[in-house]
Amino acid sequence: MLPTIAWRGRSVIMIDQRKLPGQETYVRCSTYIQVAQAIEKMVIRGAPAIGIAAAYGVALGAMALTAGTGRSLDRDFEKIYQRLERTRPTARNLFWALERMKAVYERTRQQGLRAIRTALLEEAKAIEREDSVTNRAIGRHGQTLLRDGWTILTHCNAGGLATAEYGTALGVIRAAVAEGKRVRVFADETRPFLQGARLTVWELDKDGVPVVLITDSMAGWFLRRGDVDAVVVGADRIARNGDTANKIGTYSLAVLAKENSVPFYVAAPMSTVDPTLADGGGIPIEERSPDEVREVGGHLVTLPYAEVRNPAFDVTPAAYITAIITERGVCRPPFEKGLK
Ligand code: MRU
Repeated sequence: MLPTIAWRGRSVIMIDQRKLPGQETYVRCSTYIQVAQAIEKMVIRGAPAIGIAAAYGVALGAMALTAGTGRSLDRDFEKIYQRLERTRPTARNLFWALERMKAVYERTRQQGLRAIRTALLEEAKAIEREDSVTNRAIGRHGQTLLRDGWTILTHCNAGGLATAEYGTALGVIRAAVAEGKRVRVFADETRPFLQGARLTVWELDKDGVPVVLITDSMAGWFLRRGDVDAVVVGADRIARNGDTANKIGTYSLAVLAKENSVPFYVAAPMSTVDPTLADGGGIPIEERSPDEVREVGGHLVTLPYAEVRNPAFDVTPAAYITAIITERGVCRPPFEKGLK
């Protein structure tokens, strides 16, 4: 599997996902600000991976704390927390991981800097470790839904690169392959950031899983022709009723899947479920730089001043989702009851 992120010495290293598949290089972060910038610039991306990175960011921030106790310590911790919280708004896992780190800080804040630092680093490592275990459980449950010989369509990258190392949507595919099922994957290129073309194709190819790259607009045609047996995607945030935010384009895919009677599965850990949201209406959608749309691979493809919209995510209403696969099992509608 892929070494997406790892703690080394007194720093965290991440594979630079902006450079893949051309270059396999690593970025080293030794301050929480560098981690925050790495998340913002998409060195690391994918909801669970963002959460892990932020947790290590808090651990790095704690190493530089100087105030021993009291209000100034709380203030310094809050500064670290808020900087990391501001990086990307949609992925629930970011806030879930930060909340876990804060709970550890609150438990240890009276025990001195050494104890605080040790406990925070241990918690970040636990978040990373648990992610692998969780993804494998998602894979085990999810693979029961896939049959030998199937073609699976996926969008964006919900693989090892988006998690600690195994993947959610791609974890389901990996688990099916491990069970001896011969599956083939159609990967949407995923404009504008091309996570499908650059990351999913690279990742599956490395594992020897047959993968076919298509542009996003081809998906409907292949669904209509009966070339796709199931769609499996990841998620950035799931509301209590099952409405799911994921990479822009997921909603169109879900509508087309339903129209063509193809099952549409969402694979995500429970940490992606936002218990504070009754439905998807309140999910914050990140709007990214217009240049991501104006350019492809650094080359301008329109007028440099063309007006652009660039929402990074959309929300798929629960009605279009056949099942949500989590580490606890396969949840079918009505999702509210199952997710609870
Ligand atoms: O903008 P990104 O690349 O962070 O978006 C990633 C996705 O939309 C993934 O599908 C989602 O985070 C699930 S990753 C297991």
